[in-house]
Amino acid sequence: MKLSLKNALRFASAMAYLAVGSPFFAGAVESNDSAMKDAEPIVLGSDELTAGIPGAGPLTLAEIQVWLANAENHQPLSVQLPMGLDKAAANIQGLDKNPLTKAKIELGRQLYFDTRLSVDNTISCASCHDPGFGYAKNTQFGVGIQNLEGNRNSPVAYNRIVTGAQFWDGRAGSLEEQAVGPIANPIEMGNTHEQCVNKLKGIPGYVAQFEAIYPDGVTIDNVGRSLASFERVIVTGPSPFDYQERLENFESAFAAELEDLSALAEDDPDMFFQYAQLKKQVADFPMSESAKRGRVLFFDPKINCATCHSGANFADELYHNLGVGMDAKEPDLGRFVVTKEAKDKGGFKTPTLRNVELTAPYMHDGSQKTLLEVVEWYAKGGHPNPTLSDKVKKFEATEQDKEDLVQFMRALTGTFPKVCTDRLPE
Ligand code: HEC
Ligand code: HEC
Repeated sequence: MKLSLKNALRFASAMAYLAVGSPFFAGAVESNDSAMKDAEPIVLGSDELTAGIPGAGPLTLAEIQVWLANAENHQPLSVQLPMGLDKAAANIQGLDKNPLTKAKIELGRQLYFDTRLSVDNTISCASCHDPGFGYAKNTQFGVGIQNLEGNRNSPVAYNRIVTGAQFWDGRAGSLEEQAVGPIANPIEMGNTHEQCVNKLKGIPGYVAQFEAIYPDGVTIDNVGRSLASFERVIVTGPSPFDYQERLENFESAFAAELEDLSALAEDDPDMFFQYAQLKKQVADFPMSESAKRGRVLFFDPKINCATCHSGANFADELYHNLGVGMDAKEPDLGRFVVTKEAKDKGGFKTPTLRNVELTAPYMHDGSQKTLLEVVEWYAKGGHPNPTLSDKVKKFEATEQDKEDLVQFMRALTGTFPKVCTDRLPE
């Protein structure tokens, strides 16, 4: 094998990760190969779509006009999901009716963080779906204008691009439809759509953007389209679980080749380097032994978590009754209120488990404070009631098993895109 100096260094550091060579080169494995990505499509979850119009402080009309004058910002984007969530690519929804453009996403970003959408300029979407709390909130219920509270916990606003119906009961058919709800909800933003639109019409920076993006300018539906576009690009990146899965899939697909690494280095250096890369990422973002045991339990049919928390976003997008809150005098009937079918009483939409450690408290009513409490709920078989899901089954678990399940869920935390929260039109 002939090696240039550059390849020799690459080789040595790869050897270090594969533990078959000198440990002195344990520095970064070169990432030349993965850096060679095409300009298009854009991988969601990267910072570039949510970083805001470049600059600092409130957005001036002049800055907005320069931004809008750039034709590139109006071109429909083709997008790709990051590693991990990419297995859900077939579930991407909504882009046909509402194509993503940088200008639309940026407008949605501003609206998302702007308290002027509320009646008294105090509440924005981010008040309840706060990037500092995993795009949810650490309160039991959403807290709106004048500290008014509803009876449901704020769900997360990320990875929405692979989802359809919104709300715990699925009553909104799309993100567009959902986004305009809170504005007019008396206990959330307390506004009317008409008043909201009028207020936006009084802010020249907004008027310029709506008029440049939509033929009909500032309308409540266009507010919804913009907010939905911003939400679709809040996508979370790989977690320790994803790196581990990828490595194990690679190892089982190429078991024969990986048997003799020295031979592989000579016969197929590309595969050899690729393997080293995957190993390095697992070493950088490790899954603990406890989390690995938890993974086995999570996918075990006796414990059954993966039946409902299925697919790459760990959510089947269906409604199930676990008995949460069903012991109340007048329980929240959830999906039943939408369908009026008796079987749907107490059914709620399965939430994603990605990044779930960031978004306590849990369940539609925020009644469970920790992930351990959630696991204990399942272990005892939920709360008995006539429409309890037959997929919720009591199971035997030691304290260690429960802790392992919790650690598995914590290994589902990935990276978030950087989002500019403070640059809003003057
Ligand atoms: C006062 C707190 C509050 C505010 C403000 C608020 N939300 Fe929510 N949001 C909630 C709660 C609570 C739910 C769940 C309600 C339900 O299911 O009935 C929810 C549900 C959602 C969902 C559905 C997620 C899912 O998993 O189905 C999305 C998306 C969302 N909100 C986005 C927004 C946007 C965009 C705004 C701003 C226009 C906003 N929210 C303003 C509290 C709030
Ligand atoms: C029958 C389908 C089903 C099964 C089985 C299931 N879940 Fe759930 N999970 C749900 C639904 C539905 C909710 C929301 C229920 C509610 O709020 O009333 C939920 C909520 C959760 C939450 C709270 C998330 C949040 O954001 O509030 C966690 C954590 C969770 N499940 C983990 C697990 C684990 C761990 C297992 C296995 C021990 C499991 N689930 C088994 C359907 C299921």
